[in-house]
This record gives sequence, C-alpha cells and structure tokens, in this order.
Amino acid sequence: MKKVSFSIKTFGCQMNERDSEIMGQLLAERGYVESMDMNDADVVIVNTCSIRAKAEQKAMSLLGALRKVKKKRPGMRICVAGCVAQQEGLELCERMPHVDLVLGTQNLYALADLLTSLDGTPKLAINLSDSYEIPAFIPTLAALPHSSADHIEQAPAPAARPFRKFLTIMQGCNNYCTYCVVPYTRGREVSRKVTDILDEAHALVDAGICEITLLGQNVNSYGRTNPVTADGGRYTFSQLLRDVAAIPGLQRLRFTTSNPQDLSSELMRCFGEIAILCPQFHLPVQSGSNAVLSRMNRRYTRELYLQQVQELRSVRPDIALSTDVIVGFPGESDADFEQTMELLEEVRFHSSFSFKYSDRPGTRSTGFADKVDELVKSERLSRFQHRQDEICLEQNLLYLGKSLPVMIEKQSEEGMVGRTESNHIVHIAESLACVPGDIVRVTIHHAGHHSLNGRLIPPQQKGAA
Ligand code: 5AD
Ligand code: SF4
Repeated sequence: MKKVSFSIKTFGCQMNERDSEIMGQLLAERGYVESMDMNDADVVIVNTCSIRAKAEQKAMSLLGALRKVKKKRPGMRICVAGCVAQQEGLELCERMPHVDLVLGTQNLYALADLLTSLDGTPKLAINLSDSYEIPAFIPTLAALPHSSADHIEQAPAPAARPFRKFLTIMQGCNNYCTYCVVPYTRGREVSRKVTDILDEAHALVDAGICEITLLGQNVNSYGRTNPVTADGGRYTFSQLLRDVAAIPGLQRLRFTTSNPQDLSSELMRCFGEIAILCPQFHLPVQSGSNAVLSRMNRRYTRELYLQQVQELRSVRPDIALSTDVIVGFPGESDADFEQTMELLEEVRFHSSFSFKYSDRPGTRSTGFADKVDELVKSERLSRFQHRQDEICLEQNLLYLGKSLPVMIEKQSEEGMVGRTESNHIVHIAESLACVPGDIVRVTIHHAGHHSLNGRLIPPQQKGAA
C-alpha cells in the first residue's frame, strides 16, 4: 500500500523549527513519509509565525498558492499550525476554505490523531490553556528534518546527518511586551520538567548530536512559574545549563532567548564556569531609549543593559553578543532613535536582527498614538543596519590570525563549512575526511561582514597562537 506523504513548511523562529521537527517525528511514527516536493505531498503542514506582519504575509501567500495545487489534487490535506493558526482560528477557515485543519500551538501533539479524523469539513483545534503541560517527548533522529525552503517551488534539501538540535525547555511568555503577540499565541509561560528535558538531551546525545540549543521565549525565567522538579524545590536555568552540560559526549551548548529584565549574575557567571557553554549570547535590547523601553513594557533600562554587557564581558571577554532591535515603535522620536544608535556604538554587537515596528493583532501598542511614518521607519532601519554591518566587519577583523576550534557542518564544493564557538560561519578551502559535528582547528586568514575564512591547522600544531 502506498504510504501517505507529508511536507512541512516552517516560517519564523527556532521554536517553530523545533515544533516542525516534532510534528515530523509524530507523523513518521504513524507511518507517514516525508516528501521532498510540497506540490506532491498528501499532507501539507504550514507552520506559521505572526511575530511580525511580514512573517504572517509570507505564510498567507504560501497558503494562497496551495489553493491552486489543491484544486488539481483535491485529496491533498492542508494543515495550518503555529501562531497564525492559534490567533486566527475560525477566521482562517473562512478566509481559506481549502484549509482542512487549524492546529493551535498547544495542540501540536494531537496532530496525527486529528489528521486521521478529517472528513472533508475543516477542523479547528486551538485550545489555549493556562495549565498546559508540555508532553514528554523522546526524539528519534530517524524523522527527517523539515523543509526549510522559502517557497513552494523549492524542495527541501535532502537530510544530512544531524549533528545539532534545538531542545524546547519552555513555552509561552508572561512578559507582555506591548508590541508582542507571543503571550496571546503561545499562552502563559510553562516550563518543562527537568527530567523530561534531561531525558530528551540524553537521547539526542546518544543519537550522535554534538550541539544542543535550549529554547524558550524567555529562558532566564525557567522554573519560575511552575514546579519543574519532583519535590517542587527551586531550580534555576543556570542549574539546568550545568545539568545538560554534564551529559558525556555533548560538545557544545547554547541557549536562546533571554530578556535582560530576568538576567541574573548567576547565569552570567555560567559563561565563565561551564566549559561547553559557547561564548555567544543573544540579548534582545529592542531600543536604546528608556522612554521607549518603558512604553514597550520592557522592565529594564539602557543603563542596566550596558551594565550587563560589561559584566558578561568581564566573565567571558571573547563573548559574541547579538541583539534584536525594533525601530519606529509608536512615539519613537529622532532623539530616541539616536539613543539606539549610540547604544549600538557602545556595545558593538557582533550581529543583530533589526525590524521595523508593525502592529500585531491584540497587542497593546496597536492602540498607541504617534505611529511613526513608514518612510521614517525605513530610513532608521537602513541607518541602523548599515552601521551594524560596518561593526560586524570590524568585529570580525579582530579574529584575523586567531586559532579557533570550528565544528564542521558540511562539505562544500570549495572545501568545508563550519562554525566557531562564537557562532561565526567559517569557510575552509580544504577538505578533510570528517563528518558533520567533528571539530577541527583553523587559523582565520580572512574576515568578511558575515563570515570568516580559515586554514586547517595540522594536528601537531594544535594549541598554536
Ligand atoms: N514589530 C516589529 N518587531 C517585532 N518583534 C516582535 N514583535 C514585533 C513587532 N510587533 C521583534 C522583536 C523580537 C523579535 C523576535 O521580533 O525584536 O525580539
Ligand atoms: Fe514577546 Fe516580550 Fe515575551 Fe519576548 S519577552 S516573547 S518580546 S512578550
């Protein structure tokens, strides 16, 4: 009998990428096979993101294109998952009658059952509960990674041997930054049980994973909103980092994302104390102006942020810092924006993600007065990005001549590509018999804006420079 095929297209954040992997595994366990061609799959899952207007539009245009595909192949089943599904629910079914299943962010694990119950009428599963518990989940690496293709015509690349994975440690968020949909689409913050996380981490390492990134909307507050241990005692994110880092065989550990308001000195010290914790930290600042931060309901000041940067750099001088910035938040004046530019000069981030503010449904800032003109937003964004680009290059030039460990990701026509502990991509114009996840030492001989070039150091010269 022909097996039922599925294809998953993921939009948005790493959280969604991980959710897509979970859905892929759940379907593979029920005998579905992943299709490399979305146009040909029996079941198509569009895992959506609504964090910014642009991300939502992309998902919507893919869904629009799928309408035509389904006309030709009426047996095809289309499932919309993720934040847009959660938020739009019934409206989505009305706007997109070719959608068969709308799957909310807390209904992920019911996917396979829901698919078998489809009877031609659209189904909604979008329950969002304050007492949600993330189910225990043991990953099998047999399930292929989901598609990361950006458009319907592009097929996902064939799976390479996986060597690094995301591990979700919590869901939702309680912070209610005024611009952000996450508390509404992913619900209240809930932390997974320590034992479930450690079981999953052990399973990953046993399956050959060398690098794990712990994921949550605000990992710094792990364990604060619900008990995560059997005795209900205090257990912090720093402890979790130590416990995961102690798993034999794991070589690199990262985490994302953090909110400065919950960043403790205990966590910052981890960068000096946990050998496999990579010297790389994503600490979203959003704005350099205290007035804007306050209207964003970000409960820290520019001064506290700068102090944290200093503390992190004193613990780990080689730490590579990255951030998120929103320009054109309602009421952001020229002077406010200049403060963001000044903060950029002071911190000199290794990289950043910057966005024009967009109204999101249900958020408080949507109702704020003094919306910034689109043209002004675009000008601010390009000024910020232009200067950040220059700083990226200036920071990358500091790696010239350094000898660094690089984890190999893939062989390319030109040689090999890997990543430093600081998360910089390194191109190596030589090839070596090795598999993804192996660590080699290289000397950096060229720095570009977004990547480095290195030469292999023969093993006998290890420890040089
Ligand atoms: N408009 C623009 N950017 C936003 N972000 C979140 N919500 C919005 C919005 N309404 C950005 C923030 C956040 C990142 C994931 O997306 O910078 O850190
Ligand atoms: Fe959104 Fe703020 Fe929560 Fe981050 S901390 S997910 S920006 S509400």
